Amino acid sequence: MALNLAILAPTHRPSAKEQQLNVVVRLWKDTIFLNPVGLAAGYDKDATAITPLMGMGFGFVEVGSVCLKAQPGNPSPRMFRLSEDEAIINRYGFNSKGADVVEESLKEYRRSLNLLESKKDTTEWWEQIYNFLWPGQQQIGLLGINLGKNKTSTTPLEDYQKLIHQLGPYADYLVINVSSPNTPGLRDLQNTTSLEGLLRGCQEACQELAEKQGGKQQPAPPLLVKLSPDLTDSELKDIAGVLIKLDIDGIILTNTTTARPTSLISLNKGETGGLSGQPLKDRSTECIRLLYRYTEGKIPIIGVGGISSGKDAYEKLRAGASLVQVYSGMIYNGPGMVSKIRDEVAELMLQNGQRDLQKDVIGIDHDDLFWKKPQQQQQQQYNITER
Ligand SMILES: Cc1cc2nc3c(=O)[nH]c(=O)nc-3n(C[C@H](O)[C@H](O)[C@H](O)COP(=O)(O)O)c2cc1C
Repeated sequence: MALNLAILAPTHRPSAKEQQLNVVVRLWKDTIFLNPVGLAAGYDKDATAITPLMGMGFGFVEVGSVCLKAQPGNPSPRMFRLSEDEAIINRYGFNSKGADVVEESLKEYRRSLNLLESKKDTTEWWEQIYNFLWPGQQQIGLLGINLGKNKTSTTPLEDYQKLIHQLGPYADYLVINVSSPNTPGLRDLQNTTSLEGLLRGCQEACQELAEKQGGKQQPAPPLLVKLSPDLTDSELKDIAGVLIKLDIDGIILTNTTTARPTSLISLNKGETGGLSGQPLKDRSTECIRLLYRYTEGKIPIIGVGGISSGKDAYEKLRAGASLVQVYSGMIYNGPGMVSKIRDEVAELMLQNGQRDLQKDVIGIDHDDLFWKKPQQQQQQQYNITER
């Protein structure tokens, strides 16, 4: 219902505070995120509401998880509010309309973008009034596509490779999701041997896709991996080694947890599934902090878990996330939360005398470390290619 009604949601209005700052984040040489707040995977699984979601002020929207073949997921009820804990437990189990149907939606979305682009300079008077009243609709963020494997598939790599070939052309980045707790065996793919083989195979598929698309003119989308907060610190360290070796483009930290902190008080705490929202926040930030250190800040991290305010987002950015995402917070606070988070991050930056999000905020908690400021190097690289 929320997806169908998203078109009616209040659109983002540019904040006076944010306009004084540079909140653009540049990753992978030439991918530009207009602001660091994104929508996490699982909200728009079948890519049916991208435009209105972008209008809420997200710098990027991640659709999916998309599976190769359509599958219904687990029987309802499969999502539970833990209101007193500001948390959610879900056991959706990858309900997906499948790659063919999602591809049609993505095609439609890309077509609408092209139309918008071609009409940029020739806006009709009534469109100008519309844009004045709902300025957020003009915002066009980037699109991530999160990929999952079918429940009954015994060949996950094949699933992911086919998905990369079919949906990669529509994506600004792709995510290999090996961390949802509701697909039996999926999280086992995070053990280092399986993960290395799986990601290498996915990188090869990206390479093939790039060659098919004509190489330089249209390179393959960056490939990210999404991890679980239930990995131990030493497992995270081993995984970091693999990710550095593979030169993976990014890491999303984290998915939902199967842990049940003793602090939970809601009646629904006994439900099976992945827990998200406020109780996940600190572990998720800790995972970001650890991975940033283990990877020496060289691999971009997208931080997600329990964000519902600018302060929560700012904490994750400081801990080493280049971008952040929200999901459960939206359920409790509604779509106005995006503007609120952006405004509060801007406020915190101004309070701390910071002007440039990428240079002054991201990973700043690690300032003691000699490897600080990989972003600056990236910036330099970018300038060189620009020239
Ligand atoms: C109802 C629900 C469905 C989700 N579905 C997916 C999914 O399909 N794929 C995925 O990678 N993450 C999924 N997630 C995890 C979120 O993307 C996010 O990683 C997690 O909820 C932590 O963020 P939050 O505390 O802001 O919700 C889902 C989360 C929820 C609450």
